[in-house]
Amino acid sequence: MAMTEASVSAQPEAAKTGSQLEIKNLNAYYGPKLAVRDVTMTIHPNEITALIGPSGCGKSTLLRCLNRMHEAILGARAEGTVLLDGEDIYAQDIDATLVRRRVGMVFQLPTPLRTRSVYENIAIGLRLGGIKNKRTLDEIVERSLRQAALWDEVKDKLQQSGLALSGGQQQRLCIARAIAIEPDVLLMDEPCSALDPVATFRIEELMIELKKQFTIVIVTHNMQQAARVSDRTGVFMVERHDEKSVGELVEYAPTGQIFTTPQDHRTEEYITGRVG
Ligand SMILES: Nc1ncnc2c1ncn2[C@@H]1O[C@H](COP(=O)(O)OP(=O)(O)OP(=O)(O)O)[C@@H](O)[C@H]1O
Ligand SMILES: [Mg+2]
Repeated sequence: MAMTEASVSAQPEAAKTGSQLEIKNLNAYYGPKLAVRDVTMTIHPNEITALIGPSGCGKSTLLRCLNRMHEAILGARAEGTVLLDGEDIYAQDIDATLVRRRVGMVFQLPTPLRTRSVYENIAIGLRLGGIKNKRTLDEIVERSLRQAALWDEVKDKLQQSGLALSGGQQQRLCIARAIAIEPDVLLMDEPCSALDPVATFRIEELMIELKKQFTIVIVTHNMQQAARVSDRTGVFMVERHDEKSVGELVEYAPTGQIFTTPQDHRTEEYITGRVG
């Protein structure tokens, strides 16, 4: 789907696959402060890419640069290139709203809409996308809840408040809401940090299932989680530049390599618990 059009279909696309993101020389600022410096990395389609590193190293900032949410923060801006299947999301004629439809996001705390039912939590975004037909909405709501491995638990509670669900169910509802509009990439910022181990395990299983259709980028503080679910891992650190602290990508490699034979001493120190 091109970023100049928006469409959501009732039928799952037969062979829908995730997109590739090529990040080139990306710098992210808050006002005059450089927060993330010169990141170049390629996020591969239908893989789970984990971003790890100590607090303040710029993981969330980088993630928000991948769907133009960063610039929604007052005074914040990004410089550099992010190609979504070859198309620069920062090009002048590209509408940030359409970028955010193609690159969806799930946050740390489950954020169901407080005054809305389970059903409406998903349907609201679809209506905004132009779908008005009740049967089509019903179909997509059900499909999204099934994809998010939540249908069986909520099919009799569709009209209840999203807040009536457990924390883990609420997070799966947020995932259902994000995938309902058929993004190509799913960004997840510490999606399990508020969840218990059982709910965490369900989300991890779900991510592995979802990568068949979507490209997933996950920020996590949990190194076991990165090791369990991700195909590739990017390690970020806070480094000193011109007497200022700034987040940098220090190593990016297949996850197995990062955890067994890291090439950078900072990665090794971090994964063995000596920093961060
Ligand atoms: N809204 C903001 N305004 C100003 N500075 C910010 C803002 N958000 C983050 N920063 C700064 O940008 C840098 C990177 O922050 P970021 O939140 O991206 O780190 P992080 O790696 O996600 O950390 P954590 O693991 O604690 O979530 C930090 O120095 C932080 O203080
Ligand atoms: Mg963060």
